[in-house]
Amino acid sequence: MLSFPAEARYPHSALVDFPALGGVPHRGDMEQLVIYFDNAATGWPKPESVYKFTDHFYRTLGVNPGRSGYDLAIEAGSLLTNLRKRLTRFFGGDEDAPERLIFSYNVTDAINLIVPGLLGRGDHVVTTNLEHNSVIRPVNHIVRDHGAEATFVPFNSAGFVEPGEIEAALRPNTKVVIVNHGSNVLGTVQPIGQIGKICREHGVTLVVDTAQTAGVIPINMQEMKVDVVAFTGHKALMGSMGIGGLCVRKHVEVRQVRSGGTGVRSVEPYHLEEYPFRLEYGTPNMLGVAALWAGQDWLDEQGVEKVHAQEMQLARNLVEGFRKIDGVQLYCCEKLENHLPTILMNVAGVDPGDVGIMLDVDHDIATRTGLHCAPLVHKQLGLVKNHGGVRFSLGPFNTDQDVATAVDAVAQIAAWAARPDRKPKRNVEVPSG
Ligand SMILES: Cc1ncc(COP(=O)(O)O)c(C=O)c1O
Repeated sequence: MLSFPAEARYPHSALVDFPALGGVPHRGDMEQLVIYFDNAATGWPKPESVYKFTDHFYRTLGVNPGRSGYDLAIEAGSLLTNLRKRLTRFFGGDEDAPERLIFSYNVTDAINLIVPGLLGRGDHVVTTNLEHNSVIRPVNHIVRDHGAEATFVPFNSAGFVEPGEIEAALRPNTKVVIVNHGSNVLGTVQPIGQIGKICREHGVTLVVDTAQTAGVIPINMQEMKVDVVAFTGHKALMGSMGIGGLCVRKHVEVRQVRSGGTGVRSVEPYHLEEYPFRLEYGTPNMLGVAALWAGQDWLDEQGVEKVHAQEMQLARNLVEGFRKIDGVQLYCCEKLENHLPTILMNVAGVDPGDVGIMLDVDHDIATRTGLHCAPLVHKQLGLVKNHGGVRFSLGPFNTDQDVATAVDAVAQIAAWAARPDRKPKRNVEVPSG
């Protein structure tokens, strides 16, 4: 079991330390601890070393990198350059072209660079029903506002996209396939290697959204024939919010879609063509760079596979526990193979939002309910009218005790929901998965 930093088990009284938030704990029991099952939204807490390194870096080297020639600026810049190299290696990109690892605010921002950077009028893009709105909306905009075409491929009954369905959706004008590596709703991990092979054979650029998998499932762009990886720093990469980016293989040409300061060649009237400047604008998020660097150190120490194996053991226990409870409906987690520790469920007769509130208020368990910014998943499962589902997403710091508490809490909610004297306010019959 990974050691949990004592300071990171936040009691609710943590709010006392934040006068700006009112300085009052939001609930009565000061000793209660929050059990955090919302790691798909953001990885939290972070390893203690990430907090410490970020704080130290910003205090000692928090100057603008690449804008000036003094020693501190050069040293800060070297962390940025070294992180480009490190992440290029981490994603299996072109190690002789680390400048093609570019930083953005998050994966949403990265996808907003790549979609208009690769697609235009008359081009076709294939994507899937598993996508997050960070893909769905930029794709819908390029279609509605710029004359591109898009096809959304459904997933199968186990929650996986069939590579053959992607191939069948390709057209002569298909330029790009964008696929979510790991579903933030169902936790299923897509067969990227097979999809990559198909895309390469058809000369189509494959973009992979690794928001849920970077730091969980090893990714090798060269082996998997992935052309562009989009990543976010604040989830399993264990960095901070406000940083993400793209790793773009050397053969891919991306149009520059924004412009601004680069810190070099200021006399040029237009934005610089060369990477990383082509896709980077303004002062970088150096706090985020420091946090991502420390996150990489932590992942190297722990080992991505080891962390994932531990999380999956807990996820299996959670699912087994839920399976024994009458009235619990689980979705797409039959085998838990090629899966993230992300579980979608519902309790018959209770709106998922209410389940989330009961888990929070009565049991101090943090989950995420609703449509999870991935409406097409819920639409395909027929869950939209029931307001989606309840997502438990586990992280490296969850314990056996957390899982046991969650199973017990859900059993209590399901028993309450089944009481004959209880009349549900609405029809919340949940479709099976
Ligand atoms: C699959 C997927 N893509 C994209 C995103 C968006 O991430 P961010 O908010 O960091 O841009 C998320 C966030 O939950 C996600 O799960």
